[in-house]
Amino acid sequence: MVRGARRRYPKAVNVLAIESSCDETAAAVVVDGRAARSSVVASQVDLHARYGGVVPEIASRQHLRQVIPVIREALAEAGCTLDDIDAVAGTRGPGLAGSLLVGYNAAKAIAFGRDLPFLGINHLEGHIYANWLGEGPEPRFPALCLVVSGGHTDLVLMRGHGRYERLGGTRDDAAGEAFDKVGRLLGLPFPGGPQVAKAALGGGKTSLSLPRAWIPGTFDFSFSGLKTAALHAVRKGTYEVADIAWEFQEAVVDVLAGKTSRLARELGAADVLVAGGVAANTRLREELQRRSPVPVRIPPPRLCTDNAAMIGAVAGYRFALGERSHLAEDIFTTNRWSQV
Ligand code: KG4
Ligand code: ZN
Repeated sequence: MVRGARRRYPKAVNVLAIESSCDETAAAVVVDGRAARSSVVASQVDLHARYGGVVPEIASRQHLRQVIPVIREALAEAGCTLDDIDAVAGTRGPGLAGSLLVGYNAAKAIAFGRDLPFLGINHLEGHIYANWLGEGPEPRFPALCLVVSGGHTDLVLMRGHGRYERLGGTRDDAAGEAFDKVGRLLGLPFPGGPQVAKAALGGGKTSLSLPRAWIPGTFDFSFSGLKTAALHAVRKGTYEVADIAWEFQEAVVDVLAGKTSRLARELGAADVLVAGGVAANTRLREELQRRSPVPVRIPPPRLCTDNAAMIGAVAGYRFALGERSHLAEDIFTTNRWSQV
């Protein structure tokens, strides 16, 4: 990212943002990093469902088909044209390389063709900034961010805009990945996360007790042992699918909410910000609200899962700080919080 002089813009800044890091093609128009004038998400879930997971080759081809119509729809829904756009943003990483390339290059091409500033945005920072979208007071610093997506589970301290320090995270599976794998073990459709949550509504406490990996003395997580224990419970055949789903969800939520709340207290965080697809989980939302010693902010569910409005939110703030990206900057697939 190029850091420029802090400049004041007299008018509202409209960012066109494009996101294609995994299996949703998305575009949005966001004003001043806070107001989404539109947010269009074209999901590929039906295409991947029969394979039980995202097939990268199919995902990138579908992004190619969808990206232009989705951008057109986002502009139309916002009631504007490219003439009204002040900057273009695209998700740079992390994600699937073939998927990222489509949206990122579309954003670059529009910026180049229209001679507009371009910003390459970190997808996980986008998830965090979904908490800036909407009205009301902005989140306060220092903020403790719990990022729980399909590929990442991180506890990150945010001291200011763009300033991150990773204090803990998963040592094996991400929380969303564990939900998806357990969904598959239970014979539920893809993606497993929302399906496990749905199945759990019909379940409850039984004699089944799945392990919680507390990993004392750290703010790290581990979900692979829990996943294996769920597999054994399925094989045993004595428990209902709904009851296994219930106990699994309680185990994940217990550790995520417990560790986040404790760290928020130790740090004296002003706010807890929850981000990523798993933040859509109702039980996680309830438990964090109940246990946290400080206010908890969680975006509405449609802004927890992948979307472009969150990318436009980051871009709005970075643009206002004078940051711009080079068109030569490439995508990346592995995240480093120290380099966001
Ligand atoms: O952030 P996201 O949309 O995409 C990534 O960046 O990975 O997160 C997707 C993940 C998937 O693993 C999905 O199963 C999970 O979020 N997820 C949920 C729920 N909704 C989505 N997990 C648990 N409960 C939910 N309601
Ligand atoms: Zn995501």
